[in-house]
Amino acid sequence: GVTSKGGYRHFMLKEIHEQSQVIAATLEGRLGDHQVLVNSFGADAASLFEGVRQVHIIACGTSYHAGMVARYWIEKLAGVPTQVEVASEYRYREVVVPEGTLFVTLSQSGETADTLAALRFANQRDYLGSLAICNVPGSSLVRESDLTLMTQAGPEIGVASTKAFTTQLVALLLLALALGRVRGANGEHAPLVQGLRELPGVINQVLALDGEIEQLSMAFAEKHHALFLGRGAHFPIALEGALKLKEISYIHAEAYPAGELKHGPLALVDSEMPVIAVAPNDELLEKLKSNLQEVRARGGELFVFADESIRMETNEHLHVLRVPAVSEALAPIVYTIPLQLLAYHVAVLKGTDVDQPRNLAKSVTVE
Ligand code: G6P
Repeated sequence: GVTSKGGYRHFMLKEIHEQSQVIAATLEGRLGDHQVLVNSFGADAASLFEGVRQVHIIACGTSYHAGMVARYWIEKLAGVPTQVEVASEYRYREVVVPEGTLFVTLSQSGETADTLAALRFANQRDYLGSLAICNVPGSSLVRESDLTLMTQAGPEIGVASTKAFTTQLVALLLLALALGRVRGANGEHAPLVQGLRELPGVINQVLALDGEIEQLSMAFAEKHHALFLGRGAHFPIALEGALKLKEISYIHAEAYPAGELKHGPLALVDSEMPVIAVAPNDELLEKLKSNLQEVRARGGELFVFADESIRMETNEHLHVLRVPAVSEALAPIVYTIPLQLLAYHVAVLKGTDVDQPRNLAKSVTVE
Protein backbone atom coordinates (compact mmCIF):
# COMPACT_ATOMS: atom_id res chain seq x y z
CA GLY A 1 0.00 0.00 0.00
CA VAL A 2 0.96 3.69 -0.18
CA THR A 3 2.02 3.78 3.46
CA SER A 4 4.30 0.74 3.42
CA LYS A 5 8.05 1.00 3.10
CA GLY A 6 7.99 -1.22 0.03
CA GLY A 7 11.17 -3.07 0.95
CA TYR A 8 13.13 0.09 1.82
CA ARG A 9 14.67 0.50 5.25
CA HIS A 10 13.00 3.88 5.80
CA PHE A 11 10.14 5.87 4.28
CA MET A 12 12.63 8.61 3.48
CA LEU A 13 14.71 6.30 1.29
CA LYS A 14 11.58 4.98 -0.43
CA GLU A 15 10.41 8.54 -1.06
CA ILE A 16 13.81 9.58 -2.44
CA HIS A 17 13.64 6.67 -4.87
CA GLU A 18 10.09 7.52 -5.94
CA GLN A 19 11.15 10.88 -7.32
CA SER A 20 11.46 9.89 -10.94
CA GLN A 21 7.95 8.48 -10.91
CA VAL A 22 6.27 11.34 -9.00
CA ILE A 23 7.99 13.96 -11.14
CA ALA A 24 6.56 12.19 -14.21
CA ALA A 25 3.13 12.22 -12.52
CA THR A 26 3.45 15.97 -11.79
CA LEU A 27 4.21 16.65 -15.47
CA GLU A 28 1.45 14.37 -16.73
CA GLY A 29 -1.12 16.20 -18.86
CA ARG A 30 0.55 19.58 -18.30
CA LEU A 31 2.86 19.80 -21.30
CA GLY A 32 1.89 20.50 -24.91
CA ASP A 33 4.23 19.71 -27.81
CA HIS A 34 6.48 22.70 -27.18
CA GLN A 35 4.81 24.56 -24.33
CA VAL A 36 3.31 24.32 -20.90
CA LEU A 37 -0.49 24.07 -20.86
CA VAL A 38 -1.43 27.22 -18.96
CA ASN A 39 -4.85 25.84 -17.99
CA SER A 40 -3.02 23.28 -15.80
CA PHE A 41 -3.27 26.08 -13.22
CA GLY A 42 -7.05 26.34 -13.63
CA ALA A 43 -9.54 27.50 -16.24
CA ASP A 44 -9.00 31.17 -15.29
CA ALA A 45 -5.23 30.97 -15.18
CA ALA A 46 -4.48 32.42 -18.62
CA SER A 47 -6.47 35.62 -18.07
CA LEU A 48 -5.19 36.02 -14.52
CA PHE A 49 -1.55 35.39 -15.53
CA GLU A 50 -1.78 38.07 -18.23
CA GLY A 51 -2.16 40.67 -15.52
CA VAL A 52 0.81 39.47 -13.44
CA ARG A 53 3.53 42.12 -12.97
CA GLN A 54 5.10 40.73 -9.79
CA VAL A 55 5.06 37.56 -7.76
CA HIS A 56 5.16 37.13 -3.97
CA ILE A 57 5.99 33.59 -2.86
CA ILE A 58 5.36 32.52 0.74
CA ALA A 59 6.20 29.19 2.39
CA CYS A 60 7.98 27.53 5.32
CA GLY A 61 10.85 25.07 5.68
CA THR A 62 11.71 23.01 2.66
CA SER A 63 8.84 24.58 0.70
CA TYR A 64 10.48 27.98 1.26
CA HIS A 65 13.66 26.68 -0.38
CA ALA A 66 11.61 25.65 -3.42
CA GLY A 67 10.30 29.22 -3.56
CA MET A 68 13.84 30.60 -3.49
CA VAL A 69 14.73 28.51 -6.56
CA ALA A 70 11.55 29.69 -8.29
CA ARG A 71 12.67 33.30 -8.07
CA TYR A 72 15.57 32.57 -10.40
CA TRP A 73 13.31 30.75 -12.86
CA ILE A 74 10.45 33.26 -12.88
CA GLU A 75 12.77 36.22 -13.34
CA LYS A 76 14.80 34.47 -16.05
CA LEU A 77 12.07 32.70 -18.03
CA ALA A 78 9.20 35.17 -17.57
CA GLY A 79 10.95 38.44 -16.67
CA VAL A 80 8.60 38.93 -13.71
CA PRO A 81 10.09 40.40 -10.50
CA THR A 82 9.67 37.90 -7.68
CA GLN A 83 10.00 38.07 -3.89
CA VAL A 84 10.19 35.06 -1.62
CA GLU A 85 9.65 35.13 2.13
CA VAL A 86 9.01 32.75 5.03
CA ALA A 87 5.37 32.87 6.10
CA SER A 88 6.11 33.56 9.78
CA GLU A 89 7.86 36.82 8.85
CA TYR A 90 5.58 37.88 6.03
CA ARG A 91 2.39 37.71 8.07
CA TYR A 92 3.69 40.18 10.67
CA ARG A 93 4.96 43.04 8.57
CA GLU A 94 3.52 45.94 6.60
CA VAL A 95 3.64 44.38 3.16
CA VAL A 96 3.54 46.66 0.11
CA VAL A 97 1.53 45.04 -2.66
CA PRO A 98 2.22 46.63 -6.05
CA GLU A 99 -0.51 46.43 -8.68
CA GLY A 100 -0.69 43.12 -10.51
CA THR A 101 0.95 40.99 -7.82
CA LEU A 102 0.26 37.27 -7.79
CA PHE A 103 0.37 35.67 -4.34
CA VAL A 104 1.79 32.14 -4.35
CA THR A 105 1.90 29.71 -1.44
CA LEU A 106 3.92 26.49 -1.46
CA SER A 107 3.13 23.69 0.92
CA GLN A 108 3.32 19.92 1.00
CA SER A 109 0.52 19.59 3.58
CA GLY A 110 -1.60 22.62 2.80
CA GLU A 111 -2.14 22.97 6.56
CA THR A 112 0.97 24.75 7.85
CA ALA A 113 -0.41 27.36 10.27
CA ASP A 114 1.92 30.22 9.27
CA THR A 115 1.42 29.66 5.54
CA LEU A 116 -2.35 29.48 5.90
CA ALA A 117 -2.36 32.64 8.04
CA ALA A 118 -0.26 34.36 5.35
CA LEU A 119 -2.82 33.41 2.70
CA ARG A 120 -5.65 34.77 4.85
CA PHE A 121 -3.66 37.97 5.39
CA ALA A 122 -3.06 38.25 1.64
CA ASN A 123 -6.72 37.66 0.89
CA GLN A 124 -7.44 40.89 2.81
CA ARG A 125 -5.03 42.81 0.59
CA ASP A 126 -4.97 43.99 -2.96
CA TYR A 127 -3.46 41.01 -4.71
CA LEU A 128 -4.35 40.08 -8.26
CA GLY A 129 -5.11 36.56 -7.07
CA SER A 130 -3.69 33.62 -5.19
CA LEU A 131 -2.16 30.37 -6.33
CA ALA A 132 -1.44 27.37 -4.09
CA ILE A 133 1.10 24.74 -5.13
CA CYS A 134 0.28 21.91 -2.81
CA ASN A 135 0.46 18.15 -2.38
CA VAL A 136 -2.74 17.45 -0.43
CA PRO A 137 -6.03 17.73 -2.33
CA GLY A 138 -8.81 19.43 -0.38
CA SER A 139 -6.40 20.95 2.17
CA SER A 140 -7.15 24.38 3.66
CA LEU A 141 -4.63 26.12 1.40
CA VAL A 142 -6.16 24.55 -1.70
CA ARG A 143 -9.71 25.42 -0.65
CA GLU A 144 -8.88 29.07 0.06
CA SER A 145 -6.79 29.90 -3.04
CA ASP A 146 -8.07 31.15 -6.41
CA LEU A 147 -5.84 28.86 -8.45
CA THR A 148 -4.18 25.59 -7.53
CA LEU A 149 -1.61 23.27 -9.00
CA MET A 150 -1.32 19.93 -7.26
CA THR A 151 2.06 18.27 -7.00
CA GLN A 152 1.56 14.55 -7.48
CA ALA A 153 4.09 13.34 -4.93
CA GLY A 154 1.61 11.05 -3.16
CA PRO A 155 1.68 10.65 0.63
CA GLU A 156 5.01 11.72 2.14
CA ILE A 157 5.63 10.04 5.50
CA GLY A 158 9.26 10.93 6.28
CA VAL A 159 9.31 14.16 8.27
CA ALA A 160 12.26 15.40 6.19
CA SER A 161 10.65 16.38 2.91
CA THR A 162 12.16 14.95 -0.29
CA LYS A 163 9.77 14.08 -3.11
CA ALA A 164 7.40 16.90 -2.11
CA PHE A 165 10.30 19.34 -2.69
CA THR A 166 11.36 18.11 -6.13
CA THR A 167 7.75 17.97 -7.33
CA GLN A 168 7.28 21.54 -6.06
CA LEU A 169 10.32 22.53 -8.10
CA VAL A 170 8.80 20.93 -11.19
CA ALA A 171 5.49 22.73 -10.53
CA LEU A 172 7.34 26.04 -10.11
CA LEU A 173 9.22 25.54 -13.36
CA LEU A 174 5.83 24.98 -15.02
CA LEU A 175 4.68 28.25 -13.43
CA ALA A 176 7.71 30.15 -14.74
CA LEU A 177 7.14 28.73 -18.22
CA ALA A 178 3.39 29.48 -18.08
CA LEU A 179 4.03 33.10 -17.02
CA GLY A 180 6.61 33.37 -19.79
CA ARG A 181 4.16 32.00 -22.29
CA VAL A 182 1.34 34.45 -21.51
CA ARG A 183 3.91 37.22 -21.66
CA GLY A 184 4.83 36.30 -25.22
CA ALA A 185 7.67 33.77 -24.95
CA ASN A 186 7.22 31.40 -27.81
CA GLY A 187 9.53 28.82 -29.26
CA GLU A 188 12.52 29.70 -27.08
CA HIS A 189 11.37 27.52 -24.22
CA ALA A 190 10.70 24.43 -26.35
CA PRO A 191 14.08 22.82 -25.48
CA LEU A 192 13.31 23.21 -21.78
CA VAL A 193 9.88 21.64 -22.23
CA GLN A 194 11.61 18.73 -23.94
CA GLY A 195 14.15 18.62 -21.10
CA LEU A 196 11.28 18.32 -18.62
CA ARG A 197 9.95 15.32 -20.51
CA GLU A 198 13.35 13.67 -20.21
CA LEU A 199 13.79 14.63 -16.56
CA PRO A 200 12.39 11.43 -14.98
CA GLY A 201 15.03 9.41 -16.87
CA VAL A 202 17.81 11.72 -15.68
CA ILE A 203 16.52 11.43 -12.11
CA ASN A 204 16.85 7.65 -12.37
CA GLN A 205 20.49 8.05 -13.44
CA VAL A 206 21.17 10.25 -10.43
CA LEU A 207 19.48 7.78 -8.09
CA ALA A 208 21.94 5.19 -9.34
CA LEU A 209 24.68 7.19 -7.56
CA ASP A 210 23.26 5.96 -4.24
CA GLY A 211 26.08 3.48 -3.54
CA GLU A 212 28.78 6.03 -4.29
CA ILE A 213 27.13 8.59 -1.99
CA GLU A 214 26.84 5.99 0.76
CA GLN A 215 30.64 5.64 0.55
CA LEU A 216 31.11 9.41 0.80
CA SER A 217 28.79 9.60 3.81
CA MET A 218 31.37 7.86 6.00
CA ALA A 219 33.51 10.98 5.99
CA PHE A 220 30.70 12.87 7.76
CA ALA A 221 29.60 10.55 10.52
CA GLU A 222 32.19 11.82 13.02
CA LYS A 223 31.96 15.47 12.06
CA HIS A 224 30.13 18.15 14.04
CA HIS A 225 29.74 20.76 11.34
CA ALA A 226 29.41 20.99 7.59
CA LEU A 227 29.29 23.84 5.12
CA PHE A 228 27.27 23.72 1.88
CA LEU A 229 28.09 26.04 -1.00
CA GLY A 230 26.18 26.86 -4.16
CA ARG A 231 25.79 29.83 -6.46
CA GLY A 232 22.74 31.23 -8.23
CA ALA A 233 19.74 28.91 -8.12
CA HIS A 234 21.99 26.37 -6.41
CA PHE A 235 22.32 28.50 -3.31
CA PRO A 236 18.80 27.46 -2.21
CA ILE A 237 19.73 23.88 -3.14
CA ALA A 238 22.72 24.18 -0.80
CA LEU A 239 20.34 25.51 1.88
CA GLU A 240 18.10 22.50 1.37
CA GLY A 241 21.09 20.12 1.53
CA ALA A 242 22.15 21.71 4.83
CA LEU A 243 18.59 21.52 6.19
CA LYS A 244 18.32 17.82 5.32
CA LEU A 245 21.61 17.08 7.12
CA LYS A 246 20.56 19.09 10.20
CA GLU A 247 17.09 17.58 10.39
CA ILE A 248 18.01 13.92 10.34
CA SER A 249 21.70 13.59 11.30
CA TYR A 250 21.78 16.43 13.89
CA ILE A 251 25.04 17.65 12.41
CA HIS A 252 25.20 21.42 12.41
CA ALA A 253 25.19 22.55 8.80
CA GLU A 254 25.11 25.93 7.15
CA ALA A 255 24.75 26.98 3.55
CA TYR A 256 26.31 29.98 1.87
CA PRO A 257 26.24 31.42 -1.59
CA ALA A 258 29.85 30.61 -2.47
CA GLY A 259 30.76 34.24 -3.16
CA GLU A 260 30.05 35.11 0.48
CA LEU A 261 32.61 32.63 1.78
CA LYS A 262 35.26 35.30 2.18
CA HIS A 263 32.91 37.49 4.21
CA GLY A 264 32.86 35.25 7.26
CA PRO A 265 32.48 31.49 6.99
CA LEU A 266 36.03 31.02 5.68
CA ALA A 267 37.16 31.67 9.25
CA LEU A 268 35.53 28.35 10.24
CA VAL A 269 37.17 26.21 7.58
CA ASP A 270 39.73 23.67 8.74
CA SER A 271 40.19 19.91 8.37
CA GLU A 272 37.25 19.30 10.73
CA MET A 273 34.79 21.22 8.56
CA PRO A 274 33.77 19.31 5.44
CA VAL A 275 32.62 21.56 2.61
CA ILE A 276 30.07 20.34 0.10
CA ALA A 277 29.77 22.25 -3.14
CA VAL A 278 27.15 21.95 -5.85
CA ALA A 279 28.87 22.59 -9.16
CA PRO A 280 26.67 22.33 -12.24
CA ASN A 281 28.37 23.37 -15.42
CA ASP A 282 26.84 26.83 -15.60
CA GLU A 283 28.18 30.33 -16.09
CA LEU A 284 29.14 30.57 -12.40
CA LEU A 285 31.36 27.47 -12.47
CA GLU A 286 34.67 29.31 -12.85
CA LYS A 287 33.78 31.57 -9.95
CA LEU A 288 32.79 28.58 -7.83
CA LYS A 289 36.10 26.87 -8.65
CA SER A 290 38.02 29.81 -7.27
CA ASN A 291 35.85 29.72 -4.12
CA LEU A 292 36.83 26.06 -3.75
CA GLN A 293 40.51 26.98 -4.01
CA GLU A 294 39.99 29.26 -1.01
CA VAL A 295 38.70 26.25 0.95
CA ARG A 296 41.52 23.97 -0.19
CA ALA A 297 44.11 26.54 0.83
CA ARG A 298 42.75 26.37 4.42
CA GLY A 299 43.01 22.59 4.66
CA GLY A 300 39.27 22.02 4.27
CA GLU A 301 38.06 18.71 2.92
CA LEU A 302 35.97 19.22 -0.20
CA PHE A 303 33.09 17.23 -1.60
CA VAL A 304 32.08 18.50 -5.01
CA PHE A 305 28.94 17.33 -6.78
CA ALA A 306 29.85 18.28 -10.31
CA ASP A 307 28.65 18.00 -13.87
CA GLU A 308 30.31 15.00 -15.50
CA SER A 309 31.87 17.21 -18.16
CA ILE A 310 33.86 19.28 -15.68
CA ARG A 311 37.58 18.60 -15.45
CA MET A 312 38.17 17.98 -11.77
CA GLU A 313 39.82 14.85 -10.41
CA THR A 314 39.39 13.24 -7.01
CA ASN A 315 42.49 13.45 -4.81
CA GLU A 316 43.36 13.22 -1.12
CA HIS A 317 41.31 16.22 0.01
CA LEU A 318 38.91 16.55 -2.90
CA HIS A 319 36.10 14.08 -3.59
CA VAL A 320 34.31 14.57 -6.88
CA LEU A 321 30.92 13.00 -7.45
CA ARG A 322 29.96 13.12 -11.12
CA VAL A 323 26.37 14.07 -11.87
CA PRO A 324 24.80 13.52 -15.33
CA ALA A 325 24.91 16.59 -17.58
CA VAL A 326 21.65 18.50 -17.56
CA SER A 327 20.45 21.89 -18.79
CA GLU A 328 21.00 24.88 -16.53
CA ALA A 329 17.32 25.32 -15.65
CA LEU A 330 16.86 21.68 -14.64
CA ALA A 331 20.07 21.39 -12.63
CA PRO A 332 18.58 22.54 -9.28
CA ILE A 333 16.13 19.62 -9.39
CA VAL A 334 18.81 17.09 -10.32
CA TYR A 335 21.41 18.28 -7.77
CA THR A 336 18.91 18.05 -4.92
CA ILE A 337 18.95 14.27 -5.07
CA PRO A 338 22.58 13.52 -4.16
CA LEU A 339 22.24 15.93 -1.22
CA GLN A 340 19.15 14.07 0.03
CA LEU A 341 20.99 10.76 -0.27
CA LEU A 342 24.03 12.14 1.53
CA ALA A 343 21.93 13.32 4.50
CA TYR A 344 20.09 10.00 4.55
CA HIS A 345 23.23 7.85 4.66
CA VAL A 346 24.93 10.04 7.27
CA ALA A 347 21.82 9.75 9.47
CA VAL A 348 21.75 5.96 9.07
CA LEU A 349 25.42 5.80 10.08
CA LYS A 350 24.68 7.91 13.14
CA GLY A 351 21.74 5.70 14.02
CA THR A 352 19.14 8.45 14.34
CA ASP A 353 15.40 8.00 13.85
CA VAL A 354 15.48 8.97 10.18
CA ASP A 355 11.75 9.13 9.52
CA GLN A 356 10.86 10.78 12.85
CA PRO A 357 13.68 13.14 13.83
CA ARG A 358 13.57 14.48 17.36
CA ASN A 359 11.63 17.71 18.03
CA LEU A 360 10.20 17.97 14.50
CA ALA A 361 6.72 17.44 13.09
CA LYS A 362 5.64 16.57 9.57
CA SER A 363 3.11 19.34 9.53
CA VAL A 364 3.16 22.32 11.88
CA THR A 365 -0.48 23.28 12.31
CA VAL A 366 0.02 25.59 15.29
CA GLU A 367 1.96 28.83 15.27
C1 G6P B 1 7.60 21.15 8.74
C2 G6P B 1 8.20 19.93 8.06
C3 G6P B 1 9.04 20.35 6.88
C4 G6P B 1 8.23 21.21 5.93
C5 G6P B 1 7.60 22.42 6.66
C6 G6P B 1 6.58 23.11 5.76
O1 G6P B 1 8.62 21.89 9.33
O2 G6P B 1 8.97 19.19 8.97
O3 G6P B 1 9.51 19.20 6.18
O4 G6P B 1 9.05 21.68 4.89
O5 G6P B 1 6.89 21.96 7.81
O6 G6P B 1 5.52 22.23 5.52
P1 G6P B 1 4.54 22.34 4.31
O7 G6P B 1 3.56 21.21 4.51
O8 G6P B 1 3.85 23.67 4.41
O9 G6P B 1 5.32 22.23 3.05
